[in-house]
Amino acid sequence: MTTWTPNLPRFPLLDGPSPFQPLPRFSAALGDDAEIWVKREDLLPIAFGGNKLRNLEFLIGAALAEGADALVTSGRRWSNHCRLTAAAGARAGLDVHLVLTGPPLDSPGPNQRLDELLGATVHVTTTAERADREALVAAVTDDLRTAGRRPYVIAVGGSGAVGGVGQVLAGLELADQARERGVSPSAVVLPSATGGTQAGLLVGLELAGLRARVVGVTVAATAAELRPAVQMLVRDLGSLSGRVVDAGSVEFD
Ligand SMILES: Cc1ncc(COP(=O)(O)O)c(C=O)c1O
Repeated sequence: MTTWTPNLPRFPLLDGPSPFQPLPRFSAALGDDAEIWVKREDLLPIAFGGNKLRNLEFLIGAALAEGADALVTSGRRWSNHCRLTAAAGARAGLDVHLVLTGPPLDSPGPNQRLDELLGATVHVTTTAERADREALVAAVTDDLRTAGRRPYVIAVGGSGAVGGVGQVLAGLELADQARERGVSPSAVVLPSATGGTQAGLLVGLELAGLRARVVGVTVAATAAELRPAVQMLVRDLGSLSGRVVDAGSVEFD
């Protein structure tokens, strides 16, 4: 078992590892050419689960260590990261402000309704432009400061070196579970949106000595847009964990 204890403040949100389960019928449907397993990040606790709780442990840890009293983050209207920030922020006693972007809807979708039920203040803009979204995040943050509050800003998707540490630990957890179950994965396939999960898993598997490809399936930005960001994060997370990781192995499909 490989352990790494990051020297960073952490606000605990997880009760233990997420389940690692075989999918025999899926494997059979593929002609048993591949044995498929799934890491059930959807079963992580709090507000219907999702892997971004791992990032939020370290992001909220950092916010509390700085003496913040509010969180500001952003995403699309259907963002799971925003829903989890609303829930985890409430657990930590922090006010949560969400900047949500996307086309106008007749009524808010399920995640936005959950955001509001969880007590977050939602600021909606229909813009698809990154610069407009960032301007609204800056305006919300300035308003909070003017009102005497101490906001902590979380980047889209909770990605970045601080949040990515949670995904390095996910990689270590996955490697341990695979070893315990006698499985040697040749590839880990995941959706890649902001790239933080992909970078963290790559570094975590490297730390654990598990030689599996990590393949990001792009769901938002293109591979060409995402590659430099993931490579930079791989280098940052590698140096945080004391390991030089080959950023050239960042792979997309
Ligand atoms: C389980 C899972 N894996 C990966 C991702 C992609 O996240 P990222 O923004 O870190 O690329 C998501 C997005 O929310 C996710 O839910």
